[in-house]
Amino acid sequence: MGGKQSFPIVELPHNRVVVITGANTGLGYETAKWVAMMGATVIMACRSKERAEKAMQKIQDEFQVEKAKGTPVICKLEKLSMEFMELNLGSFKSVRSFINAYKSSGRKLHMLVCNAGVALVPFTKTEDGYEVMFQVNYLSHFIMIAHLLPIMRQSGEDCRIVLVSSDAHRACNFDLSKMNYSGDPENFGRLDYYGRSKLYQIMQMHSMDRRLQGSNVSVNSLHPGMVDTEISRNFQDFRLMNAFNSVVRVFGQMKTPIDGALPIINAVVNPNLKGVGGVYFKSLEAGYSTAEARDEMKQEALWKKTLEILKDEIPEELIQELEGKS
Ligand SMILES: NC(=O)c1ccc[n+]([C@@H]2O[C@H](COP(=O)([O-])OP(=O)(O)OC[C@H]3O[C@@H](n4cnc5c(N)ncnc54)[C@H](OP(=O)(O)O)[C@@H]3O)[C@@H](O)[C@H]2O)c1
Repeated sequence: MGGKQSFPIVELPHNRVVVITGANTGLGYETAKWVAMMGATVIMACRSKERAEKAMQKIQDEFQVEKAKGTPVICKLEKLSMEFMELNLGSFKSVRSFINAYKSSGRKLHMLVCNAGVALVPFTKTEDGYEVMFQVNYLSHFIMIAHLLPIMRQSGEDCRIVLVSSDAHRACNFDLSKMNYSGDPENFGRLDYYGRSKLYQIMQMHSMDRRLQGSNVSVNSLHPGMVDTEISRNFQDFRLMNAFNSVVRVFGQMKTPIDGALPIINAVVNPNLKGVGGVYFKSLEAGYSTAEARDEMKQEALWKKTLEILKDEIPEELIQELEGKS
């Protein structure tokens, strides 16, 4: 790991199943690596088979290096348990295929880490007609949660959903009438719409937490910090953000991927967080999101509007389950 370890090291049973979206690079990669090295079975839910397979090979190689070093924290397995499943969050069709494949596998599901994301991209519409950050970061993960929650409810104690959000939610407007951008592409507010997608994740976390009280499933969200990952490939042309990133890097404030992944790994494995939900973590501590993110009326308005938007993707019986009514 190359430095201090500050997430708890726990032995995870081999049959504990952790789905991580966007696990082939950045924060998802580090999370997949350390959760697999603690012994769990990791499903790499990624859009590129090639990139996921390369990542899995790299993780297996790094595991052997850690074993040779005698790193005490890792499991006794000969080979880590990891599997690729195809998932393109920019396509509802792909999300549906992933869900169907997962259901058909008959697997349990203990941890769902909604990590994949795109940031600050120029205005782009998906094949489903939604602005890409809105769909990839928020809507598609919402659909996955709705369909996989019934499996999690049947998977035994201490199941967890983790939504990887961002403090970028501070830099946006909340306006449900403009959830899906339809204005002039030239006037598209990239930071505003990235921030909105991350705000929705925090608000969704609070709405779900209320509905999951007393159940075996908990939900939290987090901000990983400013982390030097591939995320900046999306905004090479966005001068303002690049200048900001350079300053942060120069002053040593930019985290490495493993440091950025610590709050995610912590939220997934920390035994002290069993049954703890509704927290927005910053680093390893509970942090503050904006007053807007914590506004219950706005959270419920977003929840209602989201279910309307996704009415063709989430059938009524699943809505009942999401509402905790079935
Ligand atoms: N890095 C930061 O400073 C920072 C700060 C705050 C929050 N975050 C959040 O942290 C999360 C992880 O970001 P990161 O920094 O690790 O970024 P990253 O290095 O760019 O990794 C993003 C991951 O998401 C995947 N992804 C993107 N679009 C996808 C799609 N349509 N379908 C499926 N997977 C898709 C990528 O897959 P491909 O490799 O195939 O593109 C990649 O695996 C994001 O949600 C981001 O918003 C990051």
